[in-house]
Parts: sequence; structure tokens; C-alpha cells
Amino acid sequence: MQILILNIKQLVQVEKKPAKWVAGDQMSKLDSISNAFLLVQDGVIKDFGTMDKAPELSSLSGDVLIYNAYDRMVFPSFCDSHTHLVYAGSREIEYTDKIRGLSYEEIAKRGGGILNSAKLLAKTSEDELYEQTLQRANEIIHKGTGAVEIKSGYGLSLESELKMLRVARRIKETTPLTVKTTFLGAHAVPEKYKGKQSEYVDLIINEMIPMVAAEELADYIDVFCDKGFFTVEDTERMLMAGIKYGMRPKIHANELDYSGGIQVGVKYNALSVDHLEYTGDSEIKALLNSETMPTVLPGAAFFLGMVDPPVRKMIQFGLPVAMASDYNPGSSPSGDMKFIMSLGCIKLRMLPEEVINATTINGAYAMGISDTHGSICKGKVANVFITKPIPSIEYIPYSYTADLVETVILNGKIVSK
Ligand code: NIG
Ligand code: FE
Repeated sequence: MQILILNIKQLVQVEKKPAKWVAGDQMSKLDSISNAFLLVQDGVIKDFGTMDKAPELSSLSGDVLIYNAYDRMVFPSFCDSHTHLVYAGSREIEYTDKIRGLSYEEIAKRGGGILNSAKLLAKTSEDELYEQTLQRANEIIHKGTGAVEIKSGYGLSLESELKMLRVARRIKETTPLTVKTTFLGAHAVPEKYKGKQSEYVDLIINEMIPMVAAEELADYIDVFCDKGFFTVEDTERMLMAGIKYGMRPKIHANELDYSGGIQVGVKYNALSVDHLEYTGDSEIKALLNSETMPTVLPGAAFFLGMVDPPVRKMIQFGLPVAMASDYNPGSSPSGDMKFIMSLGCIKLRMLPEEVINATTINGAYAMGISDTHGSICKGKVANVFITKPIPSIEYIPYSYTADLVETVILNGKIVSK
């Protein structure tokens, strides 16, 4: 199957050679081609360029679907490198508690928050959990996401953590999304381990990690290394155990305080450290010259009314930055990456070019797929979306609630609604 898209107003985020990420000044550079064509063949990007170089139909063998884009643009699909897509139910009660003035930590202390989701998840069957997750997967596909990282972390027992990761694996097998999975047993200390945190850490190390690895359920390991959650020492113990089983770290770090999470992530060569609201000079210094992608989640800071991470400073210092949705029931009940781009522009003062790089190529790096995803590059997986007619690239984050994704192509095939 081939798709030939012609007369594209702008083909956005094109690369001659795949870059691992874009950093610093480069983040405001975005290569795109006006009046372009894109040829997709056998699931990958075969060719692209200006319309005068478009292939003659007679030169293409086999079935070719022709798509005339005219006033529409083509973007690489979003790579959402941090989500908690598998969860049961919702937590709008806490949303109203928050409006009444309770903090995220106060809600967590009262047994709300993550523990609330864990209670509900334990009672939900694997099939039911899959159905709920599938709805969210379909929702994000039609909002332009092509690759997604999915974490466990609402199980907090061996059985329920495995259940979550099996659901994530079913999403990988049954949807056109590219899925990477992360074991986050250390998302919160479950009720029955209150006051015995290190015993829960032992359970994670001795039972959960080996079982998750035995079923090959997780690519990565995550720890919520923050004030009121897991300490740097706990984190180190769990990361070492995960690494032994081939799971590279991706850390929830510095959302609530200067927790040391960024430094410990870098020390263990994390693929990414995520949240980063509390990032100062020493955290930036730790990240420079590392292989760790700083990832910000502006949906969570927006939804919880928290401080914003110092992204301008991070970029000025030459760091790359990725942005992800953090789709979860407690701090960011949305997987809308276009809205995340708008938040990046409005709240973090990022340029449209920067938020596009942050949600595509840098997001791809943060989930370990920048060789194959995150840009329009020959040989990369054909994951793109075609917009509705729009006047400019900047219009995408500017029109901050409009649904502008018209057609989705994943693995070289049009995904119908
Ligand atoms: O990434 N910060 C920790 N975990 C999630 C929130 C989880 C929840 O409240 O359910 C996050 O924001
Ligand atoms: Fe998260």
C-alpha cells in the first residue's frame, strides 16, 4: 500500500539525517518544505520534497492512494513520552477538593490521589481496564499522537502492577500506536506499607521487578522521587535492580521540591527525567553533557496550579527539552498534545518551533525511538497527521482548543474514525 500526498502547503519537521534530539538554540529551528509531496510505502516514509520533484504516477507500481492536501499541512505524529494511560475511573471529586483549596500533597495524605486510583484499579477486571484504556488510546490517536509511553503505578501490588502492564501490552498489540511501557511500582507507598516504606521498596526489588521482567512487560523503570514519596536512596536501590533486568530509568523528578531526582536520574543514565518544576543551576549542570532528556509536563503544572519549570533557562543553557501530556486521572486528565504545545507557548514562553520539536523528535528520544519516529525523514515509520486547512504553522498552538487534525496516518495506513 502506498499513499502519495500532493500539494502540501507545508511539510513540517523534515530531516535529511535523523538527529537524536535537538537542543538549545537548535530548538527554535524547524525545517519545513512549502508546496511539498510525501510518499509513504510499506509503512515507512519513502520520499518527500517540493512538488516539482513529485513522482509521476506511472513510475509507481502497485496501488497508490492519492491525497491532494492543498491548504493543509503535514506534521510528524506526536510522540507522547510520559503517560499513565492505563487507569480505572476518574477522580473529579479531588478536582473539586483542589478548587476548595487542598494541595496535591494534602489530598495524597488523606488516602486520595494515587492511592484512590489504586483502590479502584484493584477492583477493576483486566478486560474492563483494557476497554477504558482503549477509549483513551483512540482519543489520542485522533488528536495526533502516534507513539505513546505508558506507565504502571496504580497497581502498587504485584498482581495489579502486572495487570496494568498487560493492559498496556494489549494496547500495543491491538492499536496502531507505537507503545513503550514503563514499570512504576514506586509511584506511591500503598496503605498497608505505611510507615514501612523500605519494606515496600524491598517488595518492588525482590518480587515485582523480576516478575515484570520475566513476562517482558516493561521497557523502562520509573520512580516518583520527590518530597513525600520516594527518597534518593530508595530510588537508587530500585534503579539498580531495574537496570539489572535491562530496564533503563525514566524518573518522576523535582515536581514538588528540589528532590535530588534529577541528579539521581542522570547518575543512572536515565533516558529522561520528567516534571522538573524545581530545577535550579545545579540540576541544569547535572543535565548538561548527559544522555538524559529533560521532559516537562505542562498539563500537570497547569491543572494543579503549580509553579512552572524554568524552560527558557534550560534552553539557554543548551539543554534539549521534551514535552509530554502526563495523561493521568489526578494531575493531567488529558492526552491532547496540541493543547500541551499551547501550554508550552503560553505558560513556558516557548516558541511554536520549540514546542513542535519538544513534542516530536525530543519526545521520541525520551521514549527511545528517535531513530524511527519524531520527524519526516526517509526510512522512518510513516506516522503523520494532515491538518485541516490552516494559515500557518504557528496557528496550531495559537488556536489552543481547535481540533485541527483532519487525517491520521499511522504505520503508513490511514486510521479511520
Ligand atoms: O505524573 N507525579 C506523580 N504522578 C502523576 C500523578 C498521578 C496521580 O495523581 O494520579 C503525575 O503527575
Ligand atoms: Fe506522571
